[in-house]
Amino acid sequence: MEPIIKVEHLTKRYKNAAVAAVDDVSFEVEPGELFAFLGPNGAGKTTTISILTTTLSKTSGHAEIAGHDLDTDATGIRRNIGIIFQNPSVDQHLSAEENIRLHVGLYGIYSYRPLYRLMSAEYRERVERLASVVGLEGQLGSPLKNYSGGMKRKLEIVRSLMHKPRVLFLDEPTAGLDPVSRASLWEYLREVRQEEGTTVFLTTHYLDEAEDSDRVCVIDNGRISRLETPAELKRQLLERVVLLDAFDREGLIAELRRLGAQVGLDEDSGLVRVPFEGMTPQSLIARIETPLSVLRVSDPTLEEAYVALLRESYTETQEVAA
Ligand SMILES: Nc1ncnc2c1ncn2[C@@H]1O[C@H](COP(=O)(O)OP(=O)(O)OP(=O)(O)O)[C@@H](O)[C@H]1O
Ligand SMILES: [Mg+2]
Repeated sequence: MEPIIKVEHLTKRYKNAAVAAVDDVSFEVEPGELFAFLGPNGAGKTTTISILTTTLSKTSGHAEIAGHDLDTDATGIRRNIGIIFQNPSVDQHLSAEENIRLHVGLYGIYSYRPLYRLMSAEYRERVERLASVVGLEGQLGSPLKNYSGGMKRKLEIVRSLMHKPRVLFLDEPTAGLDPVSRASLWEYLREVRQEEGTTVFLTTHYLDEAEDSDRVCVIDNGRISRLETPAELKRQLLERVVLLDAFDREGLIAELRRLGAQVGLDEDSGLVRVPFEGMTPQSLIARIETPLSVLRVSDPTLEEAYVALLRESYTETQEVAA
């Protein structure tokens, strides 16, 4: 299958900046993928998204989305994408629904007509469906000056999802949303991904949102440092351990040592800790004869792996600087 997003040697140098915000970045995204684009503040995520969504010019490099070339066919790209911007760009002087209609008109999604009651039934159904997904039903007529920050965010989301795009760019889509709205948005996104095979390009600082992603791409100082599945990233960065205990703890420890295991004590839980790099936990557990009172196999989260990765790269930077 042809990748739906192709990025080659993309570079962005802002005017007067000493270093490039995005520095020779290349990657591909497969159709239908949930692609998590992660990195610390200032890493270059929004810059990359802005270029790919045709709202910012690049310095050099090449990009293609859904077969449309960024240099020659920005309109083709815009027709195939939806964006949730990091900084809401809603117009304060309009009502919420007028903001949606303006956006829809700009993107040529539904034929633009000036009055809500004259818009197609399809348009109205979609607006109402999406408003209920994020919990804005009945509030679309209000002027935006009466909206809270979270409500503006929700409006931004409704607007971005209006035209069932093939690729959705979500730049911290749930920042500032309450937990219920956040869960409901993710439920909806799962649904559109299933029903419509939508590709999702996600940036987030909530790592649990990237846990189910197909691949994680980590960008740091404008450069890609990792591009792996979450499972592979965890495998590379975190030690997998079995935590156990027995009423006869001394006996257990002695037995584990006889079996050649590297036995330690886990600081957090106070349990006996055995890393199992290179073997399955089952093969170790099956050989233990001491009756166990506790048995836990570590199930590390993406967040743990990510933090380990960033700490590692931070330490390396310090060492280079020293
Ligand atoms: N308009 C601009 N002019 C000059 N420099 C900019 C501009 N926008 C961003 N930068 C710089 O480019 C770098 C990357 O910024 P970017 O907004 O892409 O980061 P980000 O990964 O989205 O961070 P965050 O997680 O905080 O949103 C930063 O060093 C930032 O200071
Ligand atoms: Mg950003």
